[in-house]
Amino acid sequence: MSDHLLIAQVTDIHIGAVDSLFKGVKIRENFLKVLDELKKKTLDLLVLSGDLAALNGEPEAYFWIKETLTHFPCPYIIMSGNHDHVGRMARIFENIENDVSDGMLYFSRTVKEKRLIFLDSSSTKVPVQQLDWLKNQLVNYEQDVVLFIHHPPLLCDCQFMDERYSLTNIESLWKVFNQLPQIKHIFCGHYHTEKVLAKNGKSIYLTPATIFQIDTVETNFKIAHTNPGWRIIEWGEDVNTYVEYLVDGKIDRKNYKLLGKNNTQHFLKFN
Ligand SMILES: [Fe+2]
Repeated sequence: MSDHLLIAQVTDIHIGAVDSLFKGVKIRENFLKVLDELKKKTLDLLVLSGDLAALNGEPEAYFWIKETLTHFPCPYIIMSGNHDHVGRMARIFENIENDVSDGMLYFSRTVKEKRLIFLDSSSTKVPVQQLDWLKNQLVNYEQDVVLFIHHPPLLCDCQFMDERYSLTNIESLWKVFNQLPQIKHIFCGHYHTEKVLAKNGKSIYLTPATIFQIDTVETNFKIAHTNPGWRIIEWGEDVNTYVEYLVDGKIDRKNYKLLGKNNTQHFLKFN
C-alpha cells in the first residue's frame, strides 16, 4: 500500500572520535553492519534516536556519520541524546538548523500523510518550551501521531538505568501526555535494551542499541550482550513494530503481537 510507512529506528550508536573498540565491541563496524541490513529493506525513513556520539558530541563522530549516510537509500532523521551536542550537530548536519529552537532539537515531520514528532531529552528532561510546543502542535490535530524521544518517559524496571539515568521530569511530561490521546505510540532509546511498556493508553517501546545491550536486573552496570539491535516500525492502518538483532551475521527477529482490541496492557512475545 502506498500509504504504508516503513521506518527503521537505530539508536545509541555511540560513535567515537576515532575508530575504536569498547569492551571488545567494534563500534563503527556494528553500525555499518546494521546499515547494510537496513539497505535491503524498502524503508521510507531512518531515525537515529540519539546518542550518536560516544560521550560528548564529538564532531569527528558526526562528520563520520554524515559521510557514512551519504548514500543511504532513504532519508534519515537525527535526534539528540544525552551524549550529543545540538550546536555541533546543527553545524555539521546543516539541514537540521531549522529544527533547532532554544538550543534544542525538537520538530515534527509529515511523511505519507502521517505525523511524526521528535522531542529532545538530551538535557535529561523535556523542558517546558517543548511541552508547550507539543500541545500547540496537537491542539487541532485529531489523527494519531507517533512520537520519538531518546529517554523513556517512565521508569522501566531496568535497575541500573532507572536508578541513575532516567528522565528527570516524568511527572510534568505526563501532565501533557495525558491531554494528548493522539499520542499512542512512543519510541525510545537510551536504555540499551528491548522492552514494551504501557501507561495511560500509550505504548512505550524501548529499542536496543547498536553498541551493546545493558542487563536490566543488575543494579550495577553489566553488559547483557553485544549483538547490535534496531527496531522496525510499520505504520499502515495500525502501528506494528518489532526488533531485530544481528547475531553471528544472521538476523534474529523478536516480534510482538498486541493482544486484544485496543488493549495496550498485554503483549505476547513470539519468535
Ligand atoms: Fe542516552
